Amino acid sequence: MSSETATPLDDFLNQLESLAADAETAFNAAGDDEQLEQARVEFLGARQGRLKSVQKNMGKVAGEDKPAAGKKLNEVKNAIQAAFEQAQEKLAGAAAERVRDPQFDVSLPGAAPRIGRLHPITQTIEELKDIMGRLGFTPADGPEVEDPWHNFEALNIPEIHPARDPLDNFYLSVAGAQHDTAPDRLLRSQTSTVQIRVMENTQPPIRIISLGRVYRPDTADPTHYPMFHQMEGLLIDRDVSLADLKTVLRLFATNYLGESVPVRIRPSFFPFTEPSVEADYHWNGKWVEFGGAGMVDPNVLNSVGYDPEVWSGFAFGLGVERLCMIRHQITDIRDLFTNDVRFLRQF
Ligand code: DAH
Repeated sequence: MSSETATPLDDFLNQLESLAADAETAFNAAGDDEQLEQARVEFLGARQGRLKSVQKNMGKVAGEDKPAAGKKLNEVKNAIQAAFEQAQEKLAGAAAERVRDPQFDVSLPGAAPRIGRLHPITQTIEELKDIMGRLGFTPADGPEVEDPWHNFEALNIPEIHPARDPLDNFYLSVAGAQHDTAPDRLLRSQTSTVQIRVMENTQPPIRIISLGRVYRPDTADPTHYPMFHQMEGLLIDRDVSLADLKTVLRLFATNYLGESVPVRIRPSFFPFTEPSVEADYHWNGKWVEFGGAGMVDPNVLNSVGYDPEVWSGFAFGLGVERLCMIRHQITDIRDLFTNDVRFLRQF
């Protein structure tokens, strides 16, 4: 068809056709992302792009031809867009190909991300829960800020007892409290508090352990720290005897340290047990104490409303840090709480 007879519609369609061809050629010629981006702006740029300029010519097309012109415009727009995306994929593929290049040595060590791990005390707590769980003890919890009833009174530790001395406990000053009255809150000094909390809220039989932090104003040295962890155990039932307690302590020690570890029980004293004992295991040539224990004192059973004629039981309290340190040959308790990751990463 000669140009003299061409209608404005023909002109418009021709412009679109050659635009599509030019765009495709330009996109395919682009050798890298930067050149491709330049070509994109040239053809598809929102303000100055060539597609936009051609689009403006649609105004010259006669009214009845507008639908045909619009349809073609859309087709070309889509085709140019598709050509651009294809060129983009081709460049990405080439980049991936370069990675497979023999000069790129995939066997070189990479920078491994540093993964966190559980603190050795947490690991020990999990293991203790596991061992005691197999013996039928379920975990129970109590607050770390306690009142004197749960920390002392209900455990048969009366007001005049030296264990309540302010020098041996972290009493808390409570807003609004009178200065001349005894403080009524402290950081618990033992997990035995949880015995009372559980018995107050549960009817026997009971078989629980409680693992958590306790606080005492000790100066930090290789074997002391003002905060440490205990595992408390409590079993209440009918006709419980000291033999049951010995069995549980022995099973615990052999499960944690190995079948052959010797365990011994010595007489001792605690206000909340009668009789009271201390338990040692033999390790590295010497006896090491791993906790206190005993038959729950009738006064304690009375304080939670249990009838000591019907119910009896035993309790024990073990130091978690010592168990953790034995297992990992840690010689200074302070290392557990300095939070030096070079130390902690070893476990
Ligand atoms: N509460 C004691 C302490 O912190 C340990 C203890 C001893 C707990 C005897 C008990 C027990 O349950 O029966 O030293």
